[in-house]
Amino acid sequence: MSVKIHTIALLLLSLYLCWQLSAARHAPRRRPCCVQVTSRNMSADVVGQTYREQPAGSPCVKAIIFHTNDGPLCADPKAQWVKDLAANMTKV
Ligand SMILES: *[C@@H]1O[C@H](CO)[C@@H](O)[C@H](O)[C@H]1NC(C)=O
Ligand SMILES: *[C@@H]1O[C@H](CO)[C@@H](O)[C@H](O)[C@H]1NC(C)=O
Repeated sequence: MSVKIHTIALLLLSLYLCWQLSAARHAPRRRPCCVQVTSRNMSADVVGQTYREQPAGSPCVKAIIFHTNDGPLCADPKAQWVKDLAANMTKV
């Protein structure tokens, strides 16, 4: 029984890894990225303890990506509220 579960888990894991690898190889630019950022103070909407930093690279702009209940939020790295918030969070 548990062998079966392991097999399924491994299968799913390898499918996931394959998908990740092929996504990275074939479509690096397909990944959604921030093409604009907000400098409006949205700190009340931010959830979680981690953020990502996106480098600029046309059409993407330099951005701090926070999480909200509505999905990722593209924030202006130069905005003070972004700096304040990011200072207490972990970059991933
Ligand atoms: C942004 O808003 C939060 C509350 O939502 C407030 O605590 C914080 O001081 C504000 N930051 C700036 C830079 O205005
Ligand atoms: C960040 O953490 C410091 C110390 O733990 C705290 O004083 C500060 O209010 C926090 N800032 C924000 C934006 O949560």
